[in-house]
Amino acid sequence: MTSEPAVESATSSEKFPPPPRVLIFDTTLRDGEQAPGFSMSRAQKLRMAQALADLGVDILEAGFPHASDDDFASVKAIAAGVHGPRICGLARCQKGDIESVARAIEPAARGRIHVFLATSPLHREFKLQMSRQQVVDTAVAGVERALTYCDDVEFSAEDAIRTEPEFLAEVFSAVIEAGANTVNVPDTVGYTTPTEIAERFAWLRANVRGANKVVFSAHCHDDLGMAVANSLAAISAGARQVECTINGIGERAGNAALEELVMALRVRSDRFPGLHTGIRSERLHATARLLSQTTGQPIARNKAIIGANAFAHESGIHQHGMLKHRGTYEIMRAEDVGVSRTELVLGKHSGRHALRERLSILGHDLDDGALDEVFVRFKALADKKREVFDGDLEAMAVGRDPDAAGPWHLSHLHATSHIGSSASASVRLTHEDGRVVSEAAIGDGPVDAVLRAVSRAVGHDFSINEFQIRALSEGGDAQGQAAISVIHEGRELRGQSVSTDIVEAAAQAILEIANRIEHLKTDAPPSTTAIAG
Ligand code: KIV
Ligand code: ZN
Repeated sequence: MTSEPAVESATSSEKFPPPPRVLIFDTTLRDGEQAPGFSMSRAQKLRMAQALADLGVDILEAGFPHASDDDFASVKAIAAGVHGPRICGLARCQKGDIESVARAIEPAARGRIHVFLATSPLHREFKLQMSRQQVVDTAVAGVERALTYCDDVEFSAEDAIRTEPEFLAEVFSAVIEAGANTVNVPDTVGYTTPTEIAERFAWLRANVRGANKVVFSAHCHDDLGMAVANSLAAISAGARQVECTINGIGERAGNAALEELVMALRVRSDRFPGLHTGIRSERLHATARLLSQTTGQPIARNKAIIGANAFAHESGIHQHGMLKHRGTYEIMRAEDVGVSRTELVLGKHSGRHALRERLSILGHDLDDGALDEVFVRFKALADKKREVFDGDLEAMAVGRDPDAAGPWHLSHLHATSHIGSSASASVRLTHEDGRVVSEAAIGDGPVDAVLRAVSRAVGHDFSINEFQIRALSEGGDAQGQAAISVIHEGRELRGQSVSTDIVEAAAQAILEIANRIEHLKTDAPPSTTAIAG
């Protein structure tokens, strides 16, 4: 059998071969979270950050602290409470931005300031109105300023792929001389191809002054569906950091999916000889599910690595082959990414021990106090519906967002629907300040009626941006998850809830949004900094 030459080993013949460890820079909570549909509260980000630390990411980009007070507080809370990864914050090459990151990451044992500036002709001319020299000077000044606060500074050349290679090399040489330790090549608009990006990395590593002193990083967006392929090609040409997100969430079509990158490097280690990451791959599934539960955004069944069908073999031919030898139709083991092959269904006779075991298999290792709370909810649910599935358990373990718990509470709900005429709903809400408000409304179906009744009761005319209801498990008595997004004063607010009654789930989801609005009134308002992709 002949084998084609492994392009991936090209770097091994170099004078300064890059190290074998590929650093995983996770930007789920920055580039991912800023995409419409994925916003998270401070408590949700903190929980997600802990899961990312458990997963073993090397660098955790926790947010863009200067973008809003809320972002600042989230980054600071993560820097103080999450241990293991280096905690990073994004900044433009501006004094205020850099100082915000420095203050936000201050509690972290190991921090990073990530400064960025666009370098492409389009951005220079139309966005920045800067000459080449001004771009170089601004980038250098940003890196120098960041270094006065933190010894780990990354520089990103926004829209690097559409930047003249010689000019990009000039910018990188200058920021390396100024002290940057990582230079990042973002494909900001997802335009490149695997062969192009590999050539670009090889060329940059040969032509940038001081290239062997720094880590080269790739940051690929998925507009043409090639973010993972492009990141792998960059690795083959010497990138030793890849910037990625869980489930590939991110601006527009998203960023490179962390789980796909990690498993491609592992499963095809023959094409990436000696390279490895520090990711605990058996936690991939639980981390991806946690993100989906937290944001209320489902994972496509056919999503690589973590979709429900990724390890399902329905066709008879495949099943036959699998029984003879798993390798016939499977290139990796479900267990390696944390997918449990056996769906153990719990019911009202299941005890605390069985619940703990199952939750642990699903990646939720709860302490005794948290387990007690989930057990109470589990018993209540098992009384209502005969069988409790994994999806139900995950929703219970994730629970409601503590940042949206009150001051409004739902104390009564009644909804009816009528064929041929409008549906109606009445609600009673209590506020923690003692107010009790009752309202009724008619609507186009009971969910619409209840959303209108709640809106009236809390005194907001919500402009609903997105509304989804999905079943969390199987059967007619399955729990429904309602996820609602509204635009309030220019920002997206999300609410979600789970119940066997979808009308109640919708009411609780809109109430979460009402509660977020109440909290915004008491917290300082966010500033309106433009956000990078
Ligand atoms: O896509 C991009 O250019 C970015 C940078 C800020 C790294 O997200
Ligand atoms: Zn990006």
